[in-house]
Amino acid sequence: MKEDIIQEIEHLRERIKYHNYRYHVLDDPEIIDSEYDKLFRRLQLMERENPELINPDSPTQKIGEAPLKTFDPVKHSQPMLSLENAFTDQEIKEFDARLKRLNNSSSPIEYVVEPKMDGLAIELVYEEGRLSVASTRGDGFTGENVTENIKTIPAVPNNLLYKEGNNNDIPGLLEVRGEVYMEKRDFEELNRTRLSEGLTLFANPRNAAAGSLRQLDPEVTKKRRLNMFCYGTGIISDYKVDTYYETMLFLQGLGLRINMEHMKLCSSIDEVIEQCHYLETGRDGFLFEMDGAVIKVNRLDLQEKFGIKTRSPRWAIARKFKPVQVMTKIRDIEVQVGRTGALTPVALLDPVEVGGVTVRRATLHNKEEIEKKDIRVFDSVIIQRAGDVIPEVVESVKSKRTGIEKVFSFPDKCPVCGANVLKKANEVVIRCPNMKCPAQLNAGLRHFVSKGAMDIDGLGERIITQLIDKGFIKQGVDIYRLNKERLLQLEKIEAKSANNILTAISESRKTTFARFIYALGIRHVGEHIASIIADHFKTIDALKEADEEELLSIKEVGPQIAESIVSYFSDEANVSHVESLINEDIQFEESEYNSKSPIAGKTIVVTGTLNRMKRDEIKDFIIRNGGRVASNVGKGTDMLITGDEPGSKLDRARELGIQIINEEGFFNMFS
Ligand code: IVH
Repeated sequence: MKEDIIQEIEHLRERIKYHNYRYHVLDDPEIIDSEYDKLFRRLQLMERENPELINPDSPTQKIGEAPLKTFDPVKHSQPMLSLENAFTDQEIKEFDARLKRLNNSSSPIEYVVEPKMDGLAIELVYEEGRLSVASTRGDGFTGENVTENIKTIPAVPNNLLYKEGNNNDIPGLLEVRGEVYMEKRDFEELNRTRLSEGLTLFANPRNAAAGSLRQLDPEVTKKRRLNMFCYGTGIISDYKVDTYYETMLFLQGLGLRINMEHMKLCSSIDEVIEQCHYLETGRDGFLFEMDGAVIKVNRLDLQEKFGIKTRSPRWAIARKFKPVQVMTKIRDIEVQVGRTGALTPVALLDPVEVGGVTVRRATLHNKEEIEKKDIRVFDSVIIQRAGDVIPEVVESVKSKRTGIEKVFSFPDKCPVCGANVLKKANEVVIRCPNMKCPAQLNAGLRHFVSKGAMDIDGLGERIITQLIDKGFIKQGVDIYRLNKERLLQLEKIEAKSANNILTAISESRKTTFARFIYALGIRHVGEHIASIIADHFKTIDALKEADEEELLSIKEVGPQIAESIVSYFSDEANVSHVESLINEDIQFEESEYNSKSPIAGKTIVVTGTLNRMKRDEIKDFIIRNGGRVASNVGKGTDMLITGDEPGSKLDRARELGIQIINEEGFFNMFS
């Protein structure tokens, strides 16, 4: 019996060590985090039940993995620790109860809750205010010297700032720790470029960040748009404050990037739990990937009192969120034709919940990806859904194959119109070349009428298909030329629904510049980029004239997007479509209107239940009037609009001294 236990423990240790190596050293994990967590927990449990079998070589006693040989080793003066995980609210309560016992007091402990960034831990050492060394965590004691690469990250200052009122001078020695990560949209853009260049895709933003940082050539790192938030310290000379929160404010004052916007002080464990839920529910709206929340004891004397265990502090814990990667099975593969004619293979899946949403389909990107990753029908696969990104198949799990899996043969004809498909030499995408292919027209028009674009209610796929089949519409502008007589020729359309459609069409004429740009369906220009571009150019004429250089000067616009916009407006047919839309009386406010607006350029957050407008409507109203809408209150917020029963955003706004206005007061500004 004991033999079995010893054997299982040994087996678990071997597997965990192997996966640690793939994750920490190669940046190429083979299993998803939740599977790894399961193995780790099993080992922890078995060791707890058989403490005599614990040995210092067990992964439960270690932090990461020994560093790669390619970078010079750097010894950390204090170990860089890991965190215990909690997977349920109950485990957070137990954490709190444990600490209260250690504190010999039942009085509440104050905590800070903040996002757990999904990137890689880095230590920065500043000597006399200058960045001297930056290193990875490695095995917790020795990491890799990545100073030159870290210096390419704009969020990392080379020199600390001396700021009046910071109460402290710049410390002679400052060791600060934080997470280097990649924002979701930079990750998507990077993968989009890699996809079009036929390179292997990064599985997630964390791997992309790790792979980008651990490059021997800092020039490569520089191009990758990495970012960093600091969340901890090693040694700080001549410095004394009482709390973690104050330490973070101090670091912020020195010019380091701290996620104060999403850091919350909580005076009870229930508040902690509530804040974790708030972060988890809102995670899709964040610019970065979060795999959980970190809960830390705020008082530094208590942190010291509670101390550390082998690999993690007792005073902090990570509340892990539902995984965004899960395993399921492919039932079949279908090929879709998009608005640019691109043939996209889509996996039809055994339905599975990913981060709170049921997923039935996931993109396989293109033929080359399927082949490179050797993904077959009936394979078990890892799928991922992050934010508003379309779910995708990350890889197939070869060890689960039973022999029934079938290699997918990609069609050589368009599955919709039957045209022979084409592949350009410099592209990986296979396309249907038939501009009149009903699938292309249909997808383009569905995009044109979609919610974030012209927002025409009632024009679903079925109706659009009929309108195309009858030759009534070929492009967006034709929708504005529809009349009742034509609509009544469609199946199941009666006078009432025809009228509704015509009203929706007519109402859509009043729109915003951003929506209009998005509706045009320019490749790589999503809703977010469209609004950035609208903000920058203000008028359609200015946008039409834009060259790549000007476009590239806009933050967040990369070469692929710039090239795509220029090429869109260099096509006569597109320009004439845009002009005919304007001639059809499509109206959107341009710069003049916005700059006169009382909220022009302001970042606004809305909280509570509104009476006059729905959430979507007020959002549109703000954007139409030149404002920006944010989902969370932070330093960058200019105004908070409160409805009935405002939530914690109100407290936060008060804390930060942000202008607070109720719904009525807000609309009065416009009268
Ligand atoms: S604190 C002593 N705070 O999570 C506490 N870690 O599993 C050390 N991480 O190695 C970590 N966001 O790479 C802390 N806000 C945050 C974090 C965070 C991400 C990572 C970090 C650490 C790992 C622990």
